[in-house]
Amino acid sequence: MDYKNILKLISENLYCGIFIVDKYGKVVYYNQSINDLAGLKVESAIGKHLLEIFPRLTEETSTIMRTLKTGESLKNYAQNYYNYQDKRVTILSSTIPLYEDGQLEGVVEIFSDVEKYNNLVDNKAGRDAVEKAVYTLDDIIGSSKSKKDLKNKIKKTADSRSPVLVYGETGTGKELVVQCLHNESSRRGKPFIAQNCAAIPGTLFESILFGTRLGSFTGAKDSKGLIETADGGTLFLDEINSMDITLQAKLLRFLQEGFIRRVGDNTTHAVDVRIIAALNENPYEAIASGKLRSDLFYRLNVINFSLSPLRESKNDIIELSSYFLNYFNKELNKNIYGFSEDVIEFFKKYDWPGNTRELRHIIEHAVNITESNIISMIDLPDYINIRQDSNNSNNDPVLTDCENYAGPLNKQVEQFERKVIINALKQYDCNVSRTAKKLDIPRQTLYYKMEKLNIKLDKNAE
Ligand SMILES: Nc1ncnc2c1ncn2[C@@H]1O[C@H](COP(=O)(O)OP(=O)(O)OP(=O)(O)O)[C@@H](O)[C@H]1O
Ligand SMILES: [Mg+2]
Repeated sequence: MDYKNILKLISENLYCGIFIVDKYGKVVYYNQSINDLAGLKVESAIGKHLLEIFPRLTEETSTIMRTLKTGESLKNYAQNYYNYQDKRVTILSSTIPLYEDGQLEGVVEIFSDVEKYNNLVDNKAGRDAVEKAVYTLDDIIGSSKSKKDLKNKIKKTADSRSPVLVYGETGTGKELVVQCLHNESSRRGKPFIAQNCAAIPGTLFESILFGTRLGSFTGAKDSKGLIETADGGTLFLDEINSMDITLQAKLLRFLQEGFIRRVGDNTTHAVDVRIIAALNENPYEAIASGKLRSDLFYRLNVINFSLSPLRESKNDIIELSSYFLNYFNKELNKNIYGFSEDVIEFFKKYDWPGNTRELRHIIEHAVNITESNIISMIDLPDYINIRQDSNNSNNDPVLTDCENYAGPLNKQVEQFERKVIINALKQYDCNVSRTAKKLDIPRQTLYYKMEKLNIKLDKNAE
């Protein structure tokens, strides 16, 4: 793949601008971003000095010039300036020094349109304000001990202000639990705001979370962040392990102090919000891989819910299945009364990678397509039947072959790859072109792999 071209394409289609200058302040790269914030053509920017392009900026007021001087980065910096066409624009920028062998060789600045993200914040708040927490305890189905314990714990902890961490694989009901916590608490009449941390680019997230204060010097309106929008209620931060690690530190500060500081503001003020965070990987693994700050984890984990995967709570399967069957009977105006025995057996032994959500989808599918008044195996989605077949047949050649290998994964894969290539070469009388064609790789690649895997044409009679 032509990565250079791909990068070019990406940078030209971003909603943010990118400037790269060399150590003298001359522009070496500029993307004609969709917003065209700088108001100039690429041709007229390259090679020019930054202060020549933006005559109103000075060594002191330009963030790029400042970073060139100090060698330090400036993150999420709200500024306004007059662009090439002397139009006043307000941007949020991150300015990063570029070092090569310890020498400052230039600076890259990435900037986005504040007006645009103000709208984004407004839309977000608007959308979430109508997005209510709808689930209550009655929606949690299952009378196993673990489900009863779960409901009790929700009742006991709903009214506390302590932060909560919910952990569970995909589809185990994290959203359900979080909404119940809100609805069981005295905050129920107040806002419930849910934000998936993976959905917002890191540079914008701080402003979206904490809001912005730009009014005093730009005239642009102030903007409330999600924390303030949720004042009095609950803020649910889903996939917290996707939040930028430096922002996690700022969230921790809020959790400790109860005060927020909007981006661009130097005053703080108190907000009363209960923070609930969720993640779908084991928190200790997220900490080990650097995706979750351990200090934030301990602060959030004051109250924790660890939801078990469906394969470990099989006692609930029958109850959940009849609940979903009833639900879709009503929804689709059908009158199906149950499941065949082999379906029940299958439900009990299946490993449910998609957990309760997968069970719900399978039943929705079956109720839609069945022509009988009982659901049997043929009514389940095709992928289930295919998985079943491959589970039953124990003669997958690759799996059987695996047992002959040991050691690190990449070495095992190499051994297997070597075997595949030797076999194919034998099949085609050591004719490289035909073998490459058969393996659907370019001839050059096959030569390269043969060399790497030490496959010699005359000696490969293994
Ligand atoms: N105990 C339960 N009783 C009834 N429905 C459940 C239960 N657990 C999960 N569900 C249903 O399963 C579906 C998935 O649940 P939810 O969206 O809460 O999962 P999640 O853990 O947030 O998943 P993801 O990590 O993918 O966001 C929803 O339709 C939810 O109503
Ligand atoms: Mg969810």
